[in-house]
Amino acid sequence: PTIHIITPTYSRPVQKAELTRLANTFLHVANLHWILVEDSQRRTPLVTRLLRETGLNYTHLNVETPRNYKLRGDTRDPRIPRGTMQRNLALRWLRETFNINSSQAGIVYFADDDNTYSLELFEEATLILILPHFLSPTLNQMRSTRKVSVWPVAFVGGLRYESPKVNAAGKVYGWKTVFDPHRPFAIDMAGFAINLRLILFKPQAYFKLRGVKGGYQESSLLRELVTLNDLEPKAANCTKILVWHTRTEKPVLVNEGKKGFTDPNVEI
Ligand code: UGA
Ligand code: MN
Repeated sequence: PTIHIITPTYSRPVQKAELTRLANTFLHVANLHWILVEDSQRRTPLVTRLLRETGLNYTHLNVETPRNYKLRGDTRDPRIPRGTMQRNLALRWLRETFNINSSQAGIVYFADDDNTYSLELFEEATLILILPHFLSPTLNQMRSTRKVSVWPVAFVGGLRYESPKVNAAGKVYGWKTVFDPHRPFAIDMAGFAINLRLILFKPQAYFKLRGVKGGYQESSLLRELVTLNDLEPKAANCTKILVWHTRTEKPVLVNEGKKGFTDPNVEI
């Protein structure tokens, strides 16, 4: 199956660096389709060029988050959903593009532009090239998702990592988190993948935009798609860390001054 990776992104000094790093990761993954959704009024030349030059298979979309949803001063306020309208647009694009009856097998994964992704999460390209399909060690990773698969994410919720709780029978029965473990799905955006068929079968399932408490965004979509019992643990039964919720420090640009010191025509 194709892995459809949905990434919201917005313009800021580190954007090109983040997208370059992400592209460098994705270039190692076979059968990948990158749906990059800009939070902007128009598709920007910077992102357009970057995508074209990666050689990746991609779809370039854009939708601007209305101001009343945005920032309100504190960029770290968890109540303001970041990237939600962009992810929803990508879900709509998938539903408009793929037909339930078509045999197009696919997996959908939400990959924010600043996280760090192990190739093991997707399975390593070199292994696929070397090994015949039936021998490739892929069964434990997201590509084998039947409904929704889940795994731990590092650096979230004030912990080294958060993880689904998995019992001896390999079933998810709860969440190893400190922050609100009673959420229906106490899991970060980077900790799950969904079979495309399920997205197509439940065309009304989207991330909720309004009235979603901090940490409930993921649940707002997942509860429309599955129950706890359906979840498939990956990453060696959720014992390995394959994704890190890293956040990039804002660069210090004070010496640019008001007018800007460096050549504004040089793209960074
Ligand atoms: C955490 C979660 O990991 C995100 O999945 C979730 O969307 C977010 O909180 C939230 O609920 O607000 P965090 O690192 O705090 O992530 O958020 P960012 O990485 O700043 O933003 C998530 C994604 O949205 C990124 O891909 C970013 O480029 C994009 N984004 C951010 C926009 O498209 N527009 C913005 O104004 C801000
Ligand atoms: Mn982030």
